[in-house]
Amino acid sequence: MVAGTSATLTGSDHIAPPMSFAPAYVAPMSAKIREGVDVPVMVAGRINQPQEGEQVLAGGQADMVVMTRALICDPLLPTKAEQGLADEIRACIGCNQACIGHFHAGYPISCIQHPETGRELTYGIRRPAGALDDGGERCLFRGH
Ligand SMILES: Cc1cc2nc3c(=O)[nH]c(=O)nc-3n(C[C@H](O)[C@H](O)[C@H](O)COP(=O)(O)O)c2cc1C
Ligand code: SF4
Repeated sequence: MVAGTSATLTGSDHIAPPMSFAPAYVAPMSAKIREGVDVPVMVAGRINQPQEGEQVLAGGQADMVVMTRALICDPLLPTKAEQGLADEIRACIGCNQACIGHFHAGYPISCIQHPETGRELTYGIRRPAGALDDGGERCLFRGH
């Protein structure tokens, strides 16, 4: 379930809900739908951190959570979450500048917090100078 629609101006706010919307704000609505159907329910909308998704699932508000901008911002989010490195995740802040903002301006999408996104063939996965091992990788995650 998503709350967005391009049919109305106010509905379009919810297509890529900005930072003025609370994290996982669609989940109470997907919970209502889940009560009335017998198929799996997925929910998306401002779920930017694994712990937010976990709360939705733990509360029975959906069977699966979907993340769009969170993965544009940090494609390694699932790996970091699985490895218990949640503090290392670059969190999407819902600014809508380089992702949907670029899209509407006719530019390739990217992310203000992860400029390599959309430019992987140019930059690859950049590592800080002198990074040789896992310690360097952790340093990269922290943006040092
Ligand atoms: C760059 C970008 C392009 C999108 N394109 C579409 C689209 O073509 N069709 C659609 O239904 N939703 C589109 N969306 C909306 C996402 O599918 C998703 O519902 C929305 O980003 C909210 O989830 P999020 O908070 O995890 O980003 C797009 C979102 C972004 C950021
Ligand atoms: S530019 Fe990056 S931080 Fe801002 S909303 Fe888009 S994905 Fe999130």
